[in-house]
Parts: sequence; structure tokens; C-alpha cells
Amino acid sequence: MTASHKPRKGDKSTSTSNSDSSTLRRWGFRAIFLALFIGFCQFANTINDRFYVLTPAELNETVQHSLKLAAALNPNSTNNSEIIISTLIDQLVEKHPEISWQTDFRNKKDWVFNNAGGAMGSMYLLHASITEYIIIFGSAVGTEGHSGRHTADDYFHILTGQQTAYEAGDLTREIYNPGDVHHMKRGVVKQYTAAPETWALEYARGWIPLMLPFGFADTFFSTLDLITLYHTVRVTGKEMIKNLLMGKI
Ligand SMILES: *[C@@H]1O[C@H](CO)[C@@H](O)[C@H](O)[C@H]1NC(C)=O
Ligand SMILES: *[C@@H]1O[C@H](CO)[C@@H](O)[C@H](O)[C@H]1NC(C)=O
Ligand SMILES: *[C@@H]1O[C@H](CO)[C@@H](O)[C@H](O)[C@H]1NC(C)=O
Repeated sequence: MTASHKPRKGDKSTSTSNSDSSTLRRWGFRAIFLALFIGFCQFANTINDRFYVLTPAELNETVQHSLKLAAALNPNSTNNSEIIISTLIDQLVEKHPEISWQTDFRNKKDWVFNNAGGAMGSMYLLHASITEYIIIFGSAVGTEGHSGRHTADDYFHILTGQQTAYEAGDLTREIYNPGDVHHMKRGVVKQYTAAPETWALEYARGWIPLMLPFGFADTFFSTLDLITLYHTVRVTGKEMIKNLLMGKI
């Protein structure tokens, strides 16, 4: 060990300047690519709002109206997720006929589990394009986890149950009940919980494909549930491509 130690020391000092400059060049290129990528993302962020077809305010109104309608239809509807969801979907279709909606939420085959950030829930995709998606998301047994740090704005309209959340540094929790909107701003991270039988209408707007790595990470590093991955890609990809072909980015 001592014998090989000395020559290596000498080697190092002669080759260091060479490898230093190539390392420098490599990092220089990476920095330029990173700058270009950030520039592109900033540009993309300035144009994505021209592709949106939904507005959070309109959606909130539709949700509020649907909750009232559902409650009138069935006085017990605070507990009846199915009536609330079907009323809401009818209202969405009525208020936004220009959007292509998936409405067959009673078809179990189109529901998929989603594992992300340690939380687990299931979702039914109502509409998805490159810049927007809108899903029914929740869990019959409840869940808890990391919200993810997203490149999109996320609006959680609570339909049933309860969601709680907080940001690191907060000592008290935010509480969201049916009718409340939990707006997860771009880049904000929270720990959240959903009580059993919490279902929400989730609307995300931004660059949706950039959110997918978080959405799939737990599949590769935890659940290894490739069948669910396949179905998620199937229902989401089908919708995005269909909308793209219809000219909806
Ligand atoms: C949603 O609508 C309700 C009823 O109009 C209103 O009280 C509430 O502030 C709205 N929430 C958001 C986030 O806009
Ligand atoms: C509402 O709930 C109560 C108690 O759970 C039940 O007795 C009643 O039949 C329900 N009504 C409807 C319309 O479902
Ligand atoms: C709704 O659900 C809660 C909790 O599960 C229960 O205590 C309550 O009785 C239910 N209300 C009706 C009207 O069924």
C-alpha cells in the first residue's frame, strides 16, 4: 500500500489540470443546458394559460351547486359519495359541453390506484390534456403522505370526508371539509391526510407530463404494481392523445 501510494501522488498532480479542465467544460455544458431548460420552462409557463378551458372560480361554483343539488336529492347525501359524484359529473357535462368528459365512473375498470409520496388513493379520470387534468380522487380507507412538489397548480374540491394539511414550520393544521377548496400552489409542499371516505374533485393546471415522475415514483420504488401503472398510462394517455387530436393542448 505504501509503495503504490507515492507514485499515485505524483500522477495525480500531473493529470489533475487536464481532468480539471474537462470536468469544468462538462459542467459548463451542463450549466448551459440547465439554463436553456429553465428558460424554456419559464417561457412555457407564460403561454400555458392560453390552453386552459376551465377556471378555478367556475369549477368552485359548479362544485358548490352540485353539493346543494345532491343534498336536495338525498338528505343523507353528506354520506352518499355516489350521489354527489354523479350529480357533479352531470353538472360538469352540462356547464362545459365543449370539454370531452369521461362520465362512466361506476365502471370499476376505469378506476386506478395511485401511490405517490407515501399516500395511496384511487382516481377516476374525468378529463386530461397536456395542460389540465380533472379527476375524482380519494380513498375509502383514508390516507396520509407527502403532497409532492408540483409544476402545476392543484385545486382540491372536497366532496365528502375531510382533508387536513400543513407546511413544515406550521404547528397547526389546515382543515378542509366538504365544499372547501384546498389550493395547492405550484412548488408548495405539504404533508396531508384524508379521512376515510374522503373524495375530492381534483383539478390541476400547468404542465401535466412534468408531474408524472412523482405520480409513478412509488410504483418503481415501492409497489412494483405494473398492472396499475399500465392502466394509469392507458386511461391517461388515451385521454391526452384524444384531446391533442381534437386540438386541446
Ligand atoms: C367557493 O365558492 C364558495 C361559495 O360561493 C365561496 O364561499 C368560497 O370562498 C369559494 N372558494 C374559493 C377557493 O374560491
Ligand atoms: C337517511 O339515513 C337514515 C339513517 O341512516 C336512514 O334511516 C334513512 O332511510 C336515509 N334516507 C335516505 C333517503 O336514504
Ligand atoms: C354519516 O356518516 C357519519 C359517520 O360515518 C355517521 O355518524 C352519520 O350517522 C351518517 N349520517 C347519516 C345521515 O347517515
